Amino acid sequence: MLAACALSGPLLAQPLPPEAAAAAARRTAEQVCAACHGKAGQSTQARYPSLAGQDETYLFKQLRQFRAADGKPALRQDATMAAVVHGMGDEEMHELARHFSRQPHARGQAAQPQLVEAGQAIYWQGNPASRLPACVTCHRPDGGGIPPDFPRLAGQQPAYVVKQLHAWKAGTRGGPGKLMSLLVPLMSDEEIEAVAQYVAQLP
Ligand code: HEC
Ligand code: HEC
Repeated sequence: MLAACALSGPLLAQPLPPEAAAAAARRTAEQVCAACHGKAGQSTQARYPSLAGQDETYLFKQLRQFRAADGKPALRQDATMAAVVHGMGDEEMHELARHFSRQPHARGQAAQPQLVEAGQAIYWQGNPASRLPACVTCHRPDGGGIPPDFPRLAGQQPAYVVKQLHAWKAGTRGGPGKLMSLLVPLMSDEEIEAVAQYVAQLP
């Protein structure tokens, strides 16, 4: 008994073999994440983002940012996700990111279709008056992003996109000097609302 206990410590600390780690991530995705992020990472609820088909490196980076470390506040402050990642190691985050990146991405729709046209102009041209750069440069014409740095926006829940843009404005997401932290303060609330409707309906 004692010998078994003495052994179990180091044995448990070993990483799982790849197939077992992938299977464990799938179970967690189905049993935990699906409640909010939907079946296979395709969200059906406005306040929860779809994760399916998003770049793996981006997803991993986000999971880490929900975690406060070294006595500093989390780079992304969200009480729900902070609880989800509490006690989760990098390995598990990697596996979950890989799992969701491999699911087929969600199709979305604008919650306010009358704003799509205004949103399209912002996405493609930015706003020369406020020097807001065009989103298309980094997030691509199809909204698919440029891995690993620029995430996919196409088909994302519009209310979630609005919330993120406001988070950058409020300083509760991202570090100082980062691209989105620099450009979002140039956006008006109306521009935020409109561009979120545009990206939501991109296929
Ligand atoms: C109780 C609801 C809930 C559960 C369960 C949940 N999440 Fe989340 N998740 C959220 C919310 C809310 C957000 C948006 C947070 C914000 O506004 O910054 C989010 C955001 C995320 C993001 C950022 C997505 C992006 O596009 O930047 C990732 C990644 C994520 N969750 C992964 C997971 C994983 C993996 C699990 C399961 C281990 C999980 N979540 C479980 C509610 C949940
Ligand atoms: C110079 C490049 C660049 C431009 C231009 C840019 N973005 Fe981004 N965007 C980024 C980067 C980098 C990230 C990832 C930030 C992170 O890792 O948290 C991002 C993330 C986002 C996210 C978060 C996605 C998620 O799943 O949470 C949204 C929403 C977004 N951008 C919208 C926009 C909009 C709208 C515009 C145009 C007004 C725009 N971006 C222009 C680089 C850019």
